[in-house]
Amino acid sequence: MSPSDRTNDLVARDLAHVWHPFTQQSVWGDDDPIVVDRAEGMYFWGSDGTRYLDGVSSLWVNVHGHRVPEIDAAVRAQLDRVAHTTFLGLTHEPAIELTERLLGTAPPGLTRVFYAGDGSSAVEAAIKMAFQAAAQRGEHRPRFVHVREGYHGDTLGAVSVGGIDLFHATYRPILLDTRMVSSPGVLQPGQTRVERAAEVLVELAELLAAEDGLVCAVVVEPMVQAAGGMLTHDVSFLRGVRALCDQHGAALVADEVATGIGRTGRMWAVEHAGVVPDLLTCGKGLTGGYLPLSAVLTTEAVYAAFLGSPASGRTFFHGHSYTANPLCCAAAVANLDLMAQHSTVARAERVGELIGEWTAPLAGYDGVREIRRVGTMTGIEVASVGERTGFAVCQEARRHGVWVRPLGDVVVLMPPLAIGDDDLRQLVDVVSDAIRTVVR
Ligand SMILES: Cc1ncc(COP(=O)(O)O)c(C=O)c1O
Repeated sequence: MSPSDRTNDLVARDLAHVWHPFTQQSVWGDDDPIVVDRAEGMYFWGSDGTRYLDGVSSLWVNVHGHRVPEIDAAVRAQLDRVAHTTFLGLTHEPAIELTERLLGTAPPGLTRVFYAGDGSSAVEAAIKMAFQAAAQRGEHRPRFVHVREGYHGDTLGAVSVGGIDLFHATYRPILLDTRMVSSPGVLQPGQTRVERAAEVLVELAELLAAEDGLVCAVVVEPMVQAAGGMLTHDVSFLRGVRALCDQHGAALVADEVATGIGRTGRMWAVEHAGVVPDLLTCGKGLTGGYLPLSAVLTTEAVYAAFLGSPASGRTFFHGHSYTANPLCCAAAVANLDLMAQHSTVARAERVGELIGEWTAPLAGYDGVREIRRVGTMTGIEVASVGERTGFAVCQEARRHGVWVRPLGDVVVLMPPLAIGDDDLRQLVDVVSDAIRTVVR
């Protein structure tokens, strides 16, 4: 079969029965789907042989590129030992090693690790933990506070603390009873981010006072509300949230699924503000972008609330068939080792600076509303020139060998942390040209 016949055949079979995530299936076939065949370094290839630069790290997960020899070898070696055993009532070396490695990087005071699968399931575990810990300390705190434009995943607990109407409004009738504050990243005209942070903190203070001891946790995405459109905020927001949580006995949940593992040019985004949360979720880049694995890091104080006799009912009755899968853990250990060896977090910081420098000319362009960035996490908000402008920009970039995926009219650049200068330059140049072509 010729490459193009094979591609057509695969696409037809996909269209016949496959249902894709976050995808309007009625137009998916019209968008000329790429069938990914293989990948190497910063690139992947479609089944027709076309090469694409992976400009969004396969949805914000990839760290060192694709087919990294060290991670490949670690997964293969683990396959030769055992692919999977349950983590309920058993343990294994990859998970133990990973826990030590992860805590070696963690903000001080985070000493316990609970594993989950995707980012959503880590958030789900974290909010259940916060609620149960409070309950087991004798406090009735049934409420969560979260932030407008926030995104924490698509399971119902995570949706409950989400704030993006397009994704979440449909489900409101079946969600937890939560309270939402405004986004510190959505500015009023003429307002600075510092002013906006102060304004939202006043709102939060009033809310926590009104809820009077009923709030068990405040859930935030530190530094960048990613899926909300790469909305960035000032460090004073996180510091203020920490102080208000302390004042009102609420836990601070920092969802670092998108921002963690070096993405913002620090290992953890909370480091920018010098804040330590009570619970920190991570996922995405944890395995270097290889396999689904997420984790909740927490304190001895939260952990201690779950201790008691087996009959006490204080156990955290939560977990999954594939919790702490050994292949995933082996990939994550290899990833963290490589990050340490190659100073990948420092590289991410540099990559972010270069993105800032090279996208600067776009800032003066009429078709660009704002460029927002922390570390490698970049959103270029373009003016709307019809339906799906962001998507049109990405399709134009695709014609020039660069794969990026927008958030509405925000064009996202989020390359693997270890991307080299030449590939990064190509990414920025192609996307800049695509914006100039589409948004006139
Ligand atoms: C901050 C944040 N939390 C949670 C999630 C959910 O992660 P997953 O898609 O792996 O379930 C995401 C996904 O983009 C995210 O950005």
